[in-house]
Amino acid sequence: MLLYRKSLIVINKAFQEHVTSIPLFEQVAQAALELDLEVYVIGGYVRDYLLGRTCKDIDFMCVGDGLGLAKVLAERLGPGARVSFFKNFGTAQIKWGDFELEFVGARKESYREDSRKPLVENGTLDDDQRRRDFTINALAVSLHKYPDVELIDPFEGLLDLKRKIIRTPLEPGLTFSDDPLRMLRAIRFATQLQFDIDAVTFDGITQSAPRITIVSMERVHVELNKIILASKPSYGFKLLIISGLLQHIFPELVELQGVETIEDKSHKDNFYHTLQVLDNVADRSDDLWLRWSALLHDIAKPATKRFHPKQGWTFHGHEERGARMVPKIFRRLKLPLNEKMKFVQKLVRLHLRPIPLVKDEVTDSAIRRLMFEAGDDLEALMLLCRADVTSKNNAKVKRYLHNFDVVENKMREVEAKDSVRNFQPPVSGEEIMDRYGLKPSRIVGDLKEAIKEAILEGEIANDRNEALDLLDKLAQKEGLIPSNE
Ligand code: CTP
Repeated sequence: MLLYRKSLIVINKAFQEHVTSIPLFEQVAQAALELDLEVYVIGGYVRDYLLGRTCKDIDFMCVGDGLGLAKVLAERLGPGARVSFFKNFGTAQIKWGDFELEFVGARKESYREDSRKPLVENGTLDDDQRRRDFTINALAVSLHKYPDVELIDPFEGLLDLKRKIIRTPLEPGLTFSDDPLRMLRAIRFATQLQFDIDAVTFDGITQSAPRITIVSMERVHVELNKIILASKPSYGFKLLIISGLLQHIFPELVELQGVETIEDKSHKDNFYHTLQVLDNVADRSDDLWLRWSALLHDIAKPATKRFHPKQGWTFHGHEERGARMVPKIFRRLKLPLNEKMKFVQKLVRLHLRPIPLVKDEVTDSAIRRLMFEAGDDLEALMLLCRADVTSKNNAKVKRYLHNFDVVENKMREVEAKDSVRNFQPPVSGEEIMDRYGLKPSRIVGDLKEAIKEAILEGEIANDRNEALDLLDKLAQKEGLIPSNE
């Protein structure tokens, strides 16, 4: 405890240096003085400062009128400050330069970003800290005695930061019943910060897991995305499945878990394989949707699993079936149904295609077709394919990765010759119509398609004159005559 007090002194000093180096804090303190209020910086900003992470979102909690404080501060900051008041919820927001400042009066009831309940009941600092989600998020630093500041830490949040532990301030059942999303937040923070979850808190999650179903999928997917964007997302998904939460929010992933053995033949556990692929992608890319592609690349394996006495386990067509599952999963999780979803779908559909292209007898046209289908997403696809190599046998891993080098070389050669990656039809539909005096009709589309096919098959080069020659030949067969003849 003595050590703790010592470190408190050091931390208060460091915090004092920090707040006095940022003029904004002095302005907040002056505004609080003017209104004779207690004001505290609380939550993520304090936590992140102590972890050495920079943060531009600052939550200010005051004992009394948070809206009034925001108003006075906005006047002090001048025209550069953009203020929004949410009177029903007793909160205000000020955007000032890079900073996003949130103001709230101390509350007796729980904190949640989307609470529909008007917050009317004023509380004390202690009430407020008790109703926050985790001890490390309940740390508050007083500002109203500026330049003196004091860290107020009733639940040993500081120790939990040092011990790297996520723990609820109250009995977990109570904290989670206030807002069941906090169960996901616990796992998200543990994954982002690489912390453990305290055993009692984790037990609480296990017990309250079914309650997650009352939370909106929009809020759920925000947390899932943060887990996916962490440096080692597999940790979060392991906690999700062990706690029983995954079952309720993402049953398709739970289905991937398990190993079946028939006649001494087993398949791999596709849940843990998927997590390994996700981590591999995370090592190489921060792209959220590429990471989603990793998470979903084998999603249809359970649905396509068969056992053949000779071949053993097969998952034929899982890539196509998986691609068809993507929109359903996105819709349920309320993820965007836009080009991001299409990107994920494309990668799931194509993720096996590069593998057989390494064989000597593979034609340029097979390579051309894949490049045409992948288009701009070819690099992302190849990154996913490499990440999908998760064998424990190093020699195998080396061989498979080398095979992808070979495929990529072939792709470079074909692209240099034929530029099919950003394929633009060398003859447009309008030109076809003009040339033969046609109205928009099926034949126009068929002719365009035939030219594209001929290029992809390597029958003609991706060249306008060759395309026009072919077009005339095909048109003649259809009895069409160029209109200028
Ligand atoms: N909070 C809470 N329960 C929630 C959401 C938020 O108790 N369900 C409290 C926590 O004290 C949290 C603060 O509100 O620190 C701010 O919430 P938020 O901005 O969502 O989180 P941060 O802690 O700032 O972290 P991040 O920005 O990573 O979400």
